Amino acid sequence: MTAAAVSRFADLEALSRAAAEEVLAVGRAAVAARGRFDLALSGGSTPRRLLQLLAAAGADAMPWRRTHLWWCDERAVPPDAADSNFGMATQALAPLGLDERQLHRMRGEAPDLGRAAEDYQRELCTELCSELGDPPRLDLALLGLGPDAHTASLFPHSAALAATTWVTAALITSPLVGGSAWRLSLTAPTLAAARGVLLLAAGRDKAAAVAAVLRGALDPDRYPAQLLARAPRPVQWFIDEAAASQLPLFAAPGDLP
Ligand code: 6PG
Repeated sequence: MTAAAVSRFADLEALSRAAAEEVLAVGRAAVAARGRFDLALSGGSTPRRLLQLLAAAGADAMPWRRTHLWWCDERAVPPDAADSNFGMATQALAPLGLDERQLHRMRGEAPDLGRAAEDYQRELCTELCSELGDPPRLDLALLGLGPDAHTASLFPHSAALAATTWVTAALITSPLVGGSAWRLSLTAPTLAAARGVLLLAAGRDKAAAVAAVLRGALDPDRYPAQLLARAPRPVQWFIDEAAASQLPLFAAPGDLP
């Protein structure tokens, strides 16, 4: 298991500004090294300010023309739905004028979500798998954390947690999705294969989940974000003081650079 690298910030604004700088820096380095930057986005409210800051920084802040946007997960809705992760992100990033060929959307509106997951997996592997059977290699997966310690659409006790494919469709049962709802999600092996993972968590409602994932007993079925520790490199956690409020005051050895 790999330790997390935890950075704490006063509030969501400070966290978002630091996250924007990190995304821009990783993007510049990826394009310099490999000629492209493959960034996977999550939905929810936490990344909204980050996306606004990326748009405000302008199209010259990093090689956006060499950037491909993917999604860590998507709801079973069309892109123009109010709760579409694709819709939220592309609306926020619209000032950057990205070409639609740079936007790799999960087809949440598909009548057959299992087929939509297979299609997305094929698109990911066409672009990002070096050998047949290898996982797709994203440069950066931007994740959030639910109050139940889910990330992407990897929810507690979900069949998606055991998926060995790179993308999965799963029926989620949780009060956080209004009872039960279908979701498309990158799986834990795909997130673990990313060159970098940046997880954002802000707000007191995330404090118990942050403490459970980082300091609780190892129980990824109950705390799915613990699956990220399978990555061969530290997951970066950007958390605000409210989300950190149930962590011990002093860092554990694994936190220190
Ligand atoms: C989604 C996200 C999900 C999100 C968490 C946190 O589709 O909702 O991918 O994993 O990151 O639920 O959401 P908030 O940022 O709104 O708290």
